Amino acid sequence: MTESTDLLIDTPAPRVRRLTLNRPAARNALSTAQLGLLGDAFDAATDDDAVSVVILTGGEKIFAAGADIKELASSTPVTALLDARVAHWQRIRRFPKPVIAAVCGYALGGGCELAMHADITIAGQGARFGQPELNLGVVPGAGGTQRLARIAGQQIAMKLILSGETLTAAEAHACGLVAEVVPDGEVSARAVALAVKISEKPALAVRLAKELVLASRDMPLEHGLQFERKAFSTLVATEDFREGVDAFIEKRSAIFKGR
Ligand code: CAA
Repeated sequence: MTESTDLLIDTPAPRVRRLTLNRPAARNALSTAQLGLLGDAFDAATDDDAVSVVILTGGEKIFAAGADIKELASSTPVTALLDARVAHWQRIRRFPKPVIAAVCGYALGGGCELAMHADITIAGQGARFGQPELNLGVVPGAGGTQRLARIAGQQIAMKLILSGETLTAAEAHACGLVAEVVPDGEVSARAVALAVKISEKPALAVRLAKELVLASRDMPLEHGLQFERKAFSTLVATEDFREGVDAFIEKRSAIFKGR
């Protein structure tokens, strides 16, 4: 994994890896290099058995102001088609463990798209979400038109993308773009608390649960239900299932091993 001060990596609690975008002078704009660092960090967290959950944040002032517009300025159709960023986004999208976005301040353009790559978003009261790419003469380029319409609905997606207006944290919560809104100063603590809770669950069930919920976007209900039944049937063969039911019956806390 490449070390860089543009992306801070720490462990705020056992089994929780936190990735903090750290380009404050550029408002955490997602340059190709920055996205590459994120891709590397997600790959490393995939391979690391000591990591159960990833928290993605931009710190207390801003989540991310989107793609790096200064870099984008030299785009041509050819560079846009061959863009390394596409592969970096794919690495983030395919991360199999839970991701919690902790959002304070602006999440705009690629920043909003990055938040939508997370499984759960905790927003501070002052957070703002938007897709202002039309102001630059382009459309969102990292899934904004597709994800926003699926997550928040066509009306909200059209309003944000066509007008460039932003949503407040409360509005984002009302349309399902974020799971929870807390005071700005509590975003980090809440994200860590939630990550710890998830990290204590049986890892195989967590992994399949994420896969199943994401599959529900693309699968017809009948196929999704079959997929769920097969996952359920597989999990009853795990040691963690035995431990979970034994612990319940014996009125004690379960200790899961991820097997
Ligand atoms: N790319 C590159 N640099 C950026 C940037 C971005 N997306 N956003 C801000 N910056 C830079 C500014 O150029 C400025 O740099 P200098 O000091 O060198 O002049 C510095 O960050 C501070 O910017 P502001 O003075 O504008 O900061 P602010 O706090 O007053 O405002 C902001 C913050 C509301 C986020 C504002 O900077 C802004 O609107 N940024 C652009 C947002 C945007 O249009 N995002 C969409 C990008 S396109 C995209 O994301 C495509 C995609 O889908 C993949």
